[in-house]
Amino acid sequence: MRLKDKVAVITGGARGIGKATAELFGKEGAKLILADFDQETGETTVGELKARGIPCVFVRTNVVDAASVAALFARTVEEFGRVDVLVNNAGITADGWLAKMSEDQWDRVIGVNLKGVFLCSQAAVKIMLEQGSGCILNAASVVGIYGNQGQTNYVATKAGVIGMTKGWAKELGPKGIRVNAVAPGFIMTDMMASVPEKVLKMMEEKTPLRRLGQAADIAEAYLFLAADSGSYVTGAVLSVDGGLVT
Ligand SMILES: NC(=O)c1ccc[n+]([C@@H]2O[C@H](COP(=O)([O-])OP(=O)(O)OC[C@H]3O[C@@H](n4cnc5c(N)ncnc54)[C@H](O)[C@@H]3O)[C@@H](O)[C@H]2O)c1
Repeated sequence: MRLKDKVAVITGGARGIGKATAELFGKEGAKLILADFDQETGETTVGELKARGIPCVFVRTNVVDAASVAALFARTVEEFGRVDVLVNNAGITADGWLAKMSEDQWDRVIGVNLKGVFLCSQAAVKIMLEQGSGCILNAASVVGIYGNQGQTNYVATKAGVIGMTKGWAKELGPKGIRVNAVAPGFIMTDMMASVPEKVLKMMEEKTPLRRLGQAADIAEAYLFLAADSGSYVTGAVLSVDGGLVT
């Protein structure tokens, strides 16, 4: 098992890529804390994982709220005594053309995708520094590298996450903490539910591997980076996008 007895906190772990990552990490021996805003779905997911014998706890968390994040990591230490891996996966979209995007759309996306990553990483790092080891994995996106129309707020957060990843890798590497990002292409989760069928078809045709991604494709990348296989990798942005470039 590639993550035997490692303690992993996965934000946004109730569904989608977070859930797929929890399933794979659990199969590889990790003990899990799933932190999500959506209590009902989160508890259902935790129930499914526990039924497979995976040690797993749901903690209702709003990553934008510092007190909620502090409570998440206090509970993690209480349950499992340490934090080996943090997956900053929680993320939202609120798309709109630049001329029409409201301040509220901007603030909400910046809040979850950027401030949330900052707050969770800061809380986790305090524990990891004491341990002298740890691994932070950030959800970036292809659009944070190449840009995308109609996603000013989202693109800003994903480019920001890439910048923080590289900065933290430099700051924390000497302390035994690795920091990496995964940049997914178009992955079929609920986040993509509002994208019209016609656009999905177009995205598929633009992708050299000629298919849209699955949540499990991204989970495999997180596993590679979290396990010993990634022990000499830090500050990297791993594109998992079927070869998509725009
Ligand atoms: N699906 C894609 O095509 C794609 C592409 C690139 C990057 N990503 C990134 O991957 C990550 C996961 O995406 P997904 O497709 O699985 O999304 P999803 O919408 O299926 O799941 C996101 C999860 O985050 C949770 N969440 C939202 N706001 C929260 C908050 N304030 N506090 C705690 N939890 C919160 C939601 O409840 C949900 O369970 C996101 O960061 C997303 O930006 C996804």
